[in-house]
Amino acid sequence: MDEKADKLKLRCEVGLLGGISLIAGTMIGSGIFMSPQLVLLNIGSPGASLVIWACSGLLAMLASLSYAELGTIIRESGGEYIYILRTAGQPIAFLFIFTSVVVVRPASLAGVSLSFALNAVAPFYQDCPPPDQVVKCVAAAGILLLAVVNCLDVRSAMKVMVFFMAAKVLSLAVIVIGGIVLLVKGNTLNLENSFKGTNLDISSIGLAFFQCLWSYDGWNNLNYVTEELKQPQVNLPRAVMIAIPMVTILYLLVNVSYLAYLTPREMISSTAVAVTWGNKVLGGWGWLMSVAAALSAFGSLNGTFFSGGRVCFVAAREGHMPDILAMAHVDRLTPSPALIFTTAIALIVLIPGDFQSIVNFFSFTAWFFYAITLCGLLYLKTKRADLPRAYKVPILIPILVIMAAVFLVIAPIIDDPQIEYLYVTLFILSGIIVYVPFIHFQLFPGLLNRMTVFLQLFLEVAPAEKNL
Ligand code: ARG
Repeated sequence: MDEKADKLKLRCEVGLLGGISLIAGTMIGSGIFMSPQLVLLNIGSPGASLVIWACSGLLAMLASLSYAELGTIIRESGGEYIYILRTAGQPIAFLFIFTSVVVVRPASLAGVSLSFALNAVAPFYQDCPPPDQVVKCVAAAGILLLAVVNCLDVRSAMKVMVFFMAAKVLSLAVIVIGGIVLLVKGNTLNLENSFKGTNLDISSIGLAFFQCLWSYDGWNNLNYVTEELKQPQVNLPRAVMIAIPMVTILYLLVNVSYLAYLTPREMISSTAVAVTWGNKVLGGWGWLMSVAAALSAFGSLNGTFFSGGRVCFVAAREGHMPDILAMAHVDRLTPSPALIFTTAIALIVLIPGDFQSIVNFFSFTAWFFYAITLCGLLYLKTKRADLPRAYKVPILIPILVIMAAVFLVIAPIIDDPQIEYLYVTLFILSGIIVYVPFIHFQLFPGLLNRMTVFLQLFLEVAPAEKNL
């Protein structure tokens, strides 16, 4: 068993198309179907909301170009975690993985699965809102189904990814074409005087960005799986440069189409804007839009799973999570213990979770750690310029992104302080209480051994190696 274990590696299964699907397929999820009206509500005018969508796309692009350089210097999988570990060191990397594994990832899984469930059951509850228990059960079923697919086989997980990406790009294309038809006919009433009523106060801008950036989140997804990517030096930057502009353009056109058909007031009063659009434009076929939104969220859920399992796995390999989570199935070569763990926590978060609050909380925490990661890139660019890298980004780009991230994290706190942000910060810092005894001083080294052996036999898994 041990000899075989030494040779275990995750397979290199992800090519350029897979990489693009992994990025675009995770980015396009619940947001574009749910948050345009919230962006509009915060910022106040259609013109300004389009500007926010464009700026968010640009920010995602600049950030992911910076990540592409990081990914070609540090070849290991694990995204932010591994970059923070290799630049800022153990304690901060631990705080990241602790926050990410215990709340951020499961919360984003729960959020997207809730949006999946809401849209999936919507056609059956035309006249009333669907009961909460039904929505949560469907969401849980979606999470469990994807957990099984991802545990069984990397290749079928990738197929799910590619299939759903095609489905959602198609449904967004329907919205775009609908919009173009209307605009060509000269119906531009809602787009005239489009900057009237813009809110320029800092917290409105910050909250509009939080909602919008949720739709773009996932731009960093390929960095979680670089070890499984074929020719990462070439495919990582290339996938980013194709996927993100594609998504940005699609999002902008979809927003134009929403605005062309719906008045700002209609948009703001809708709970799921794509469904409102569908009912108005497609008439009796409006339910198609709910199905499309459900499929889209489902695909994004799969992408989050795929990368979420990997991060856990990398952190366990570095000794920051229990050993069992660093193992892969002996035949299937999928990191099933990490996937099962992520699923369990996501199901727990699902019980009290609601979509809205998850989004704000998520963006706040995520951008906090993106900024720390990019400070690591600045360090590598200035102090370790000698390290080989296949792709280089001008230093101004990470600096701009860091400035934007600092604004995003600080603006809502200063302008409209809410106790929740304090809780989040305290939670992140509470990781220190776990770090000091268990990881720094290694106080109870044998604590988990028995359980590890038992689970190892039960799940048929063995330690896996790096793929470099
Ligand atoms: N952009 C996605 C959406 O609109 C959210 C993705 C969250 N998951 C993640 N891995 N970042 O639903």
